[in-house]
Amino acid sequence: MKRLVVYYSFTAGNTKKIALKIAKETGADIIALETTEPYQGSYQAVVDQGLDEVKRGFMPALKPYAVNPADYDEIIIGTPTWWYEMAPAVLTFMEKMDFFGKKVALFQTNAGWPGKCLKTMEKKTAPGKVIATGLFTFSARDAERDKMTSPVSDIDDFIKKL
Ligand SMILES: Cc1cc2nc3c(=O)[nH]c(=O)nc-3n(C[C@H](O)[C@H](O)[C@H](O)COP(=O)(O)O)c2cc1C
Repeated sequence: MKRLVVYYSFTAGNTKKIALKIAKETGADIIALETTEPYQGSYQAVVDQGLDEVKRGFMPALKPYAVNPADYDEIIIGTPTWWYEMAPAVLTFMEKMDFFGKKVALFQTNAGWPGKCLKTMEKKTAPGKVIATGLFTFSARDAERDKMTSPVSDIDDFIKKL
């Protein structure tokens, strides 16, 4: 059984930290999604750009993946919440991916307003089988965006389902 973690992270490395922990503890390979055009400007500028992109369902071009996701049986996908949805880079990945015959686990980081991100991701996973979902919350305060406010044991509970 081959297992792969795919994640995107932008603000504080929150999604990256969880993705690395999952990959380490499950022996999975890992892909960090990266847009070919980096987001630029202040945090607020990116928040505004993100709103526009999410509204349009924009799918940014991504840099080539380190490995071929089609080669894996179980794919764990992690995204930060961007305007109640998955980050645009993750939308690009999910739309391109054929999940037929795959087991999929989905996780989302957020700052208190998770919206319908996981629901949307579950839909895009079809016809793959969702085996776990995880919602991990971090502080919304500017100075401590990297502080996890939900219990760390939630990550262990998620990993147990893989
Ligand atoms: C463009 C943008 C939109 C965001 N929208 C939301 C949101 O709708 N709900 C929420 O709870 N957090 C929102 N956030 C905060 C991030 O989801 C949160 O800080 C996340 O943990 C960041 O993960 P990262 O460090 O891996 O990028 C947004 C952040 C950005 C940059």
